[in-house]
Amino acid sequence: MTASPPAAQPFAPSSNVAFLRESATIAVSARAKALKAQGRDVIDLGVGEPDFPTPAPIVEAAKAAIDAGATKYTATEGILPLREAIAERATRESAGRLPVAAAEVVVSNGAKQSLFNAIYVLFGAGDDVLVPSPAWTSYYEMVALARANVVPVIGDPANGLKATAAHVAAAATPATRGLLLNSPSNPTGATYTLHELRDLLALAEERGWWVIADEIYAQIAYEGTATSALAVAPSRDRLVVVDGVAKAWAMTGWRIGWAIAPRPVAAAMAAFQSHTTSNPAAVSQHAALAAVRGGVAIEQAVRHMVDEFRARRDACLAVLAEGPAPAVVPPTGAFYLFFEVGGAHGDGDHFARTLLEERGVAVVPGSAFLAPGWVRMSYAAPQAQVVEGVRRLVAHWRALTGR
Ligand SMILES: Cc1ncc(COP(=O)(O)O)c(C=O)c1O
Repeated sequence: MTASPPAAQPFAPSSNVAFLRESATIAVSARAKALKAQGRDVIDLGVGEPDFPTPAPIVEAAKAAIDAGATKYTATEGILPLREAIAERATRESAGRLPVAAAEVVVSNGAKQSLFNAIYVLFGAGDDVLVPSPAWTSYYEMVALARANVVPVIGDPANGLKATAAHVAAAATPATRGLLLNSPSNPTGATYTLHELRDLLALAEERGWWVIADEIYAQIAYEGTATSALAVAPSRDRLVVVDGVAKAWAMTGWRIGWAIAPRPVAAAMAAFQSHTTSNPAAVSQHAALAAVRGGVAIEQAVRHMVDEFRARRDACLAVLAEGPAPAVVPPTGAFYLFFEVGGAHGDGDHFARTLLEERGVAVVPGSAFLAPGWVRMSYAAPQAQVVEGVRRLVAHWRALTGR
């Protein structure tokens, strides 16, 4: 008699990923879409995606690249002209103080991949990584995927929820190996001042920590330009700067990001990427090259988008000034409003869930960013929708709090 085959086991995720949580942003969007499909009037202010088309000259450059045969593999780390253009731009950021070479640039499928690659090659089991919080939800999961430990550094509500060098120093442990910075910040829209950033980078240099500075929102800033880590870092010896085309150039779907890292780190990131995804799409790299090289029409398009975001922000703040409203982090960059809705009347999860179900506005609960009493609203949507979304959010808050 032959033995019967073992019963198939139901799928259980491996220990590599068993701890991963579904992205809260995606979960909210899925629920908003489901309600819309039922015919409900839903304003989706959950996602952080510019609602503008990619500037036309960038699209034209991509079409020309396809016609010219940009349909093959490229070098894993990206085409040389793009890495050169990124290196030149970065060198300008530091006013020539910390020159960047093309060999120190690795292009990837989005800032997200660059962040993951940097975290994965720099940190491992037993390493503590300081994460000023609230912070973008994926940082926590990426550090965990590298088997390192997140040490959240909760920022000061009186200072835009930013964590200063003093907060970071107080949270450091003997196992601290790195610090993740993000300015302007997702989810708060706060921007670190030149002095705050300089102090953080000086502390990291003194302690020998790696710093990963995520500058994906750097061009979307409303009070002058957002300071880059490249402008104030004492050196680039232990600094990785991550940026990409998604937000400032309205190119989320093209999937191009990059990291600027010391040569050995860049080489390790490229080697790692060579075994996972290889090069990002050739045609997207040519589009990104047009974006980074810029030119009058592209720069005008970027300025127009930033002006629009600023006008929406101001319109939202005007609604909030009309009467009792939840506290909000003063938004100086990116395109998010971070509201404090928690307290005796309920937490951010409850607030976000009931705001969507009862008033048809999708926002992301702050628990996704380690700030459970808060919610994040994106204003990367047409102004009328954003203003209506804020009105409904305020009405909901007033109803819950009896204000
Ligand atoms: C702080 C932050 N970093 C990185 C990313 C990802 O950018 P990309 O689309 O280039 O992967 C996002 C996108 O939401 C973000 O908010």
